Amino acid sequence: MRLLRALLRCVSPATIPQQVDFYCRFSPSPLSMKQFLDFGSDNACEKTSFMFLRQELPVRLANIMKEISLLPDNLLKTPSVQLVQSWYVQSLQEILDFKDKSAEDAEAVSCFTDTVITIRNRHNDVIPTMAQGVIEYKDHYGVDPVTSQNVQYFLDRFFMSRISIRMLLNQHTLLFGGKVKVNPAHPKHIGSIDPKCNVVEVIKDGYENAKTLCDLYYMNSPELVLEERNVKSPGQPMQVVYVPSHLYYMVFELFKNAMRATMEHHADRDIYPPIHVHVTLGNEDLTVKMCDRGGGVPLRKIDRLFNYMYSTAPRPRVETSRATPLALSTESVERLPVYNKAAWKHYTANHEADDWCVPSSEPKDMTTFRSI
Ligand SMILES: Nc1ncnc2c1ncn2[C@@H]1O[C@H](COP(=O)(O)OP(=O)(O)O)[C@@H](O)[C@H]1O
Ligand SMILES: [Mg+2]
Repeated sequence: MRLLRALLRCVSPATIPQQVDFYCRFSPSPLSMKQFLDFGSDNACEKTSFMFLRQELPVRLANIMKEISLLPDNLLKTPSVQLVQSWYVQSLQEILDFKDKSAEDAEAVSCFTDTVITIRNRHNDVIPTMAQGVIEYKDHYGVDPVTSQNVQYFLDRFFMSRISIRMLLNQHTLLFGGKVKVNPAHPKHIGSIDPKCNVVEVIKDGYENAKTLCDLYYMNSPELVLEERNVKSPGQPMQVVYVPSHLYYMVFELFKNAMRATMEHHADRDIYPPIHVHVTLGNEDLTVKMCDRGGGVPLRKIDRLFNYMYSTAPRPRVETSRATPLALSTESVERLPVYNKAAWKHYTANHEADDWCVPSSEPKDMTTFRSI
């Protein structure tokens, strides 16, 4: 009887579209780094996190689910996008099942933490699966500028939303998922956040791992020349409040690109110019600027580097210089997509012709599909 009552209380899959419509009317609440830290401090408890997440997760999930449902029909109907959508539906449903539970019910709170872990694992492969959906779509229907622009708009928001949801899931799991709150490998970390993230160490770590790959593939690799300027606290090591794994991922990707370009551009000379990295900690922001001599990217192709639907597969041939500014202060606040009228218009009102000339024929190498 208890089981039957519990089943009846569960949100039925049929009501999910209504739940999405209901929760997407709320705007997600962006958290600041300080709030994340306070949440993980000694007086924070699982109950508070439970009450916050069971409201905030449905809001963040529903906001992006609404945008998924507005994707072009042919993209939405691909098996991969259907699969991603089904994961979101199931996860939303599982969170909503805790709607009426009391925070004083210790069993429910602990069960919620297990659910958070299940959801996190369920969504592990969202990025390659979504990429597969876009590939399936492109193979069948090709790409026109309007679709490409809409997919770009959607994926930027979708990935940002996913990072923000995973950050919440991870913090909850790391703080309350194990028997001990403290990570033995990083006792000073608050969940995934390092309140004293040593920026230069993380960058060197990213370089070393990219170098290992580069050495394996090209039997050699460019050196690293790193310069640091701590304008905020001169003479002190550069420390910021940050998620080290996020910083690592960004610099690791940039190092791999820089190394590949350098090795291929200088292949016949056997001397490889070093990669220069300038790290500057200002009063508000940290800037990481990476320069290589790998030939760079022609202006004609620059825009496409950030486009998920195209590739610039052949090696470019001018000097590259790029800066990666990262806002890293404790006041920095999450930047979250919100589903509203402006977002809706992007998906529905954008079917007129492109207002820029499109070259009638393009160099072959620019239209190959790139992995996302
Ligand atoms: N530092 C660089 N120097 C020259 N070309 C680059 C550099 N970084 C990126 N590119 C070009 O941009 C393309 C896209 O880079 P990226 O988005 O990292 O995808 P991938 O590395 O998987 O090809 C690369 O294939 C390369 O042609
Ligand atoms: Mg790359």
